[in-house]
Amino acid sequence: MSIQVLIGTSDPELAAGLRTKIAELADTQVIGVENNSGNVLGIVGSHQELDIVLLDEGIGPQLGHDLIREIALRSPHVAVVLLSEQLDEEVLSRALETGARGVLGRNPTLEELSSRLDVVAEWSQRMRQLLGTGRAEGPELGGRRGRIVALAGAKGGTGATTIAVQLALAASRAGRSVCLVDMDLQTGDVATYLDMVHRRSVADLVSVANEITGAVLADVLFIHEAGPHVLLAPQDGERAEDVSSSAARQILAVLRSRYEVIIVDCGAFMTEGSVTAIEVADRAVIAVTPDLPCLRAAKRLSHLWKRLDVRKPEDVSIVLTRQSRKDEIQPDFAARILGMTPLKTAVPPAFRALEKAINNGAPVRIDHDGFRNAMRQLGEELGVLPVIAAAEPRGGARRPKAEAI
Ligand SMILES: Nc1ncnc2c1ncn2[C@@H]1O[C@H](COP(=O)(O)OP(=O)(O)OP(=O)(O)O)[C@@H](O)[C@H]1O
Ligand SMILES: [Mg+2]
Repeated sequence: MSIQVLIGTSDPELAAGLRTKIAELADTQVIGVENNSGNVLGIVGSHQELDIVLLDEGIGPQLGHDLIREIALRSPHVAVVLLSEQLDEEVLSRALETGARGVLGRNPTLEELSSRLDVVAEWSQRMRQLLGTGRAEGPELGGRRGRIVALAGAKGGTGATTIAVQLALAASRAGRSVCLVDMDLQTGDVATYLDMVHRRSVADLVSVANEITGAVLADVLFIHEAGPHVLLAPQDGERAEDVSSSAARQILAVLRSRYEVIIVDCGAFMTEGSVTAIEVADRAVIAVTPDLPCLRAAKRLSHLWKRLDVRKPEDVSIVLTRQSRKDEIQPDFAARILGMTPLKTAVPPAFRALEKAINNGAPVRIDHDGFRNAMRQLGEELGVLPVIAAAEPRGGARRPKAEAI
């Protein structure tokens, strides 16, 4: 089935250049060029087969970013790629925040165009399946398994949710399909960190856990404008008990068949749901601050998982958070107390940057290079981000490498 592309620009030269390049791509077809925002919306609304809109940021009369938001709301399965004069991190973040799936220069090379169209067309197909809008058939990942990473806090407040949210955003930014699950069923606060309001939660899937369809999921999940799909914890903590081990197992299995990356925030207090996530995850990580009480709590937690036959300590990873060179407890000392080696990546303290991001409701903008680098490295270490060579230029529309998950 060919990929169907709409070009939205009032610049005939830009349209002609894109048409010529796309004509060289197999299985990709330009269904039209529209020169104003109203017409673009008209085609998006009426052309069911449309996969991708290549949108010139200068299109009018509606501003490019407002138009992206509107397309995402009206037709969430249509992938918008913004064509921008300027390619920097700010343009990319802004575009992703409004719901675009990527940014390209106004004169992309054939290779850039081809790889971006491939990635977003795949995303669009998966979204169609999830939303039950037809067209694509068969299991979402074509029989492949998504990767589940479960994060727990050794104690309350160690930074587990911050890491879960940031990893989910980073994996989305890298073009992966991501579901972030809040399995901190009693005190989950992912919604606050992502500045979102949504009433449906994982508890709403329990009664239909045997038969979760795309439409059921689409009803319960929240699609965050920065990319990740989010399955929240129930608003009423007492509903935590509804999420049995078998329901959690079924829900996670469905998510695994539909997303490339599933990040589960398990919180610090174990419930049947969170313990099950720890058990089935490809990687289980405990977030630990570099102080003795917390290190001991991490050890206790991993021993608890061992006693419950959930996970062996050698199969548990530790991430040190708020770790700085000035701390008395350094990674090698932590390793001795824990009896396990922490992950290579430690998360540095970033108090003001995180506070600012939360207070401004802007989780994608963490104004702290060290913290952002740590999230990227941690994502690579945990296998939820493609490994990017250190020499590659940062910022701009960075392309994920095609890597098996
Ligand atoms: N690397 C960091 N540097 C500075 N502050 C941090 C860092 N990570 C998290 N925080 C801050 O610590 C507080 C707790 O973080 P977070 O909610 O992520 O922890 P948690 O382990 O999920 O807590 P809970 O037990 O409530 O679920 C928040 O105010 C957050 O901004
Ligand atoms: Mg938390």
